[in-house]
Amino acid sequence: MHQRAQRELRLAKRMARLGTETAFEVLVKARALEAKGRDIVHLEIGEPDFDTPSNIIDAGCDALHKGFTHYGPSAGLPQLREAIAQYVSETRRVDVSPDEIVVVPGGKPIIFFSILTLAEEGDEVIYPNPGFPIYESMIDYVGAKAVPIRLREEMDFRLDVDELAALINDRTKLIIINSPQNPTGGVLTKSDIDRIAGAIGDRNVMLLSDEIYSRLIFEGEHHSIMSIDGMKERTILLDGFSKTYAMTGWRMGYGVMRADLATHVARLMTNSSSCTASFTQIAGVEALRGPQDSVDKMCAEFKKRRDVMVAGLNKIKGFSCRSPHGAFYVFPNITKTGWKSKKLADALLEDAGVAGLSGTAFGSFGEGYLRFSVANSIENIEKALDCLDVWTKKNL
Ligand SMILES: Cc1ncc(COP(=O)(O)O)c(C=O)c1O
Repeated sequence: MHQRAQRELRLAKRMARLGTETAFEVLVKARALEAKGRDIVHLEIGEPDFDTPSNIIDAGCDALHKGFTHYGPSAGLPQLREAIAQYVSETRRVDVSPDEIVVVPGGKPIIFFSILTLAEEGDEVIYPNPGFPIYESMIDYVGAKAVPIRLREEMDFRLDVDELAALINDRTKLIIINSPQNPTGGVLTKSDIDRIAGAIGDRNVMLLSDEIYSRLIFEGEHHSIMSIDGMKERTILLDGFSKTYAMTGWRMGYGVMRADLATHVARLMTNSSSCTASFTQIAGVEALRGPQDSVDKMCAEFKKRRDVMVAGLNKIKGFSCRSPHGAFYVFPNITKTGWKSKKLADALLEDAGVAGLSGTAFGSFGEGYLRFSVANSIENIEKALDCLDVWTKKNL
């Protein structure tokens, strides 16, 4: 039979502007190598290697048996929004009410929805670079101008507030900050946060404060810009359950924002997912209200691994690594290897069996760096360090 040529796929032009998250691609590549019998140490993916605490799993199972198997309100179940309002009020020392909260499937949709509701052509959005790649991807997607604020290694990967102030102008619609930060582990200080609020001043500019790693801090404390007088009205706080309670696969996060904006974000939920899974939300209430010792234990374990990783990387030829203050990533400088980041990340996966990410997966200012996640056992981290040592001695 005569075979007809496949029809042209007529994609909307905006799809050409949509980026991606390389971690998932590297994971696929690493799994393909494993399928061929290769031994790979996985340091590419950003999720805790711990199980969700059993009290949360039990609450989820129980909710299924009790009939939480139906649609719920687009903005989230009232009991979860109540628990989140109490949690955020206590941890950020601001009064938050349930109508200022939208529960969504993961932290990511809050990035998607905030940018979709606020930014359009002609607007500028300032975002951290190197930073979580979804920010730049979404800003480009909606046709706004992505304006990077460079994170500085010499400042432990914090941003320079004077540089930020110089980027703010009348076209600035939204500023994104992220602390503790992915991919660098940088943590903004209280003084940074105060000065950022000062740089914004009275301007009617919104701020997306991505605080998904707020409970994973090794030194100092978490400071939220939402706590600063006069900033609550202009802040969208992003937080969630994925990292804090090892619940990445449950898909649940939330945004805290002024109630009038929350109704628009909830409308995007109605138009996209309808609602976050109901039984998942009941498990979320248990996560927030139940025992918190598993969070502290996980954080202490990440700190131990960070120390092993940083000490080991600093002994490897061509690598130098600062000690991150939060999250579960290290971001070594590899410029002294003489290799470009992407080429080095590829070679380390294929030849050394260590899966990490190129710093450029997090924006152009990530050139000269790699990102390794410490969400793996100390035994595997030590194995990765041995593989890196052998490879660099042979190839550099
Ligand atoms: C900075 C940052 N924000 C948001 C997210 C999204 O988290 P979730 O898996 O809950 O969508 C991540 C996940 O890696 C992240 O690193």
